Amino acid sequence: MAQSRRSPRPAHTLFEQQFHMSNSVRKAVFPVGGLGTRFLPATKSMPKEMLPVVDKPLVQHAVEEARAAGIEEFIFVTGRGKTAIEDHFDRSFELHDLLEARGKNDAIKAISEWLPSAGSVAYTRQQEPLGLGHAVWCARNLVGDEPFAVVLADDLVMADPPCLSQMVDTYRETGGNLVAVMEVPAEHVSRYGVLDVASDMGSLVEAKGLVEKPLVESAPSNLAIIGRYILSPRIFGRLENAKKGAGGEIQLTDALAAMLGSTPFYGLRYDGVRYDCGDKVGFLHANVVFALSRPDMSDEVREIIRNIAETL
Ligand code: UTP
Repeated sequence: MAQSRRSPRPAHTLFEQQFHMSNSVRKAVFPVGGLGTRFLPATKSMPKEMLPVVDKPLVQHAVEEARAAGIEEFIFVTGRGKTAIEDHFDRSFELHDLLEARGKNDAIKAISEWLPSAGSVAYTRQQEPLGLGHAVWCARNLVGDEPFAVVLADDLVMADPPCLSQMVDTYRETGGNLVAVMEVPAEHVSRYGVLDVASDMGSLVEAKGLVEKPLVESAPSNLAIIGRYILSPRIFGRLENAKKGAGGEIQLTDALAAMLGSTPFYGLRYDGVRYDCGDKVGFLHANVVFALSRPDMSDEVREIIRNIAETL
């Protein structure tokens, strides 16, 4: 993260400082139980999270980001029609043997180098896609009583260091609940959960409220939450009896709002660019940008874009 974006951290008591020393984040939850209706027909028989950005499924981008942030346990909340995700994070013996017989060593690396170690991945099923809050609640027994990250694979963030690493670093000092936030144009606030800011310390803000999908006229700010969270396990208690909120779904943001007052709530203006890969145009945008960042194809892709631009 650029030094200039560093901001003063909130002051803590000695007790809090000692408590925060143990704020390590070892587990990440990947909710992948949604229907992906905006991508139909592509998602009729394929999970949205398996859509590739260049040659890597969204969910692999997410797991690699989590691993770079020091995550050791990867918890997937899946649903019907999502078994391709489990297969993706498993060893593929047939393919491996075939590639070995053909001497395709680069391809072997491409299917195996990034695999999480045996026993570090767990799956549970959401049974019904009742909303993100419900998906996270389904992971309660696998997470247990420790802080954990939530990573939405369809929010792809290009950042160095990766977005979740920036958050883990910040969380060591803040504790509480921490979300990644970005400034959005005022007319877009109703697509997001939006913070009501209590104090703005630069890259870090403390919030006194948040609203899911507010009306443009009544939005408390234009600081929108993206799909990266570090949460206190106390959230599970709030999700236990959560009622349906915006869109008829059990919203994670409603449970976060219910914790205000008892648990500090922070937003981190991460350094990086987020692509909304749950949206067709955002997904295409990400593919172009990630392809341009790849030394093995950037020249060709740039040439294609130039040619297209000339015909517009
Ligand atoms: P979205 O709301 O973007 O995903 O949820 P969706 O419902 O699958 O997509 P659309 O709107 O119909 O196109 C963000 C993330 O949360 C997961 C999704 O799988 C996605 O990764 N999710 C959402 C769940 O796991 N369970 C749910 O009930 C809802």
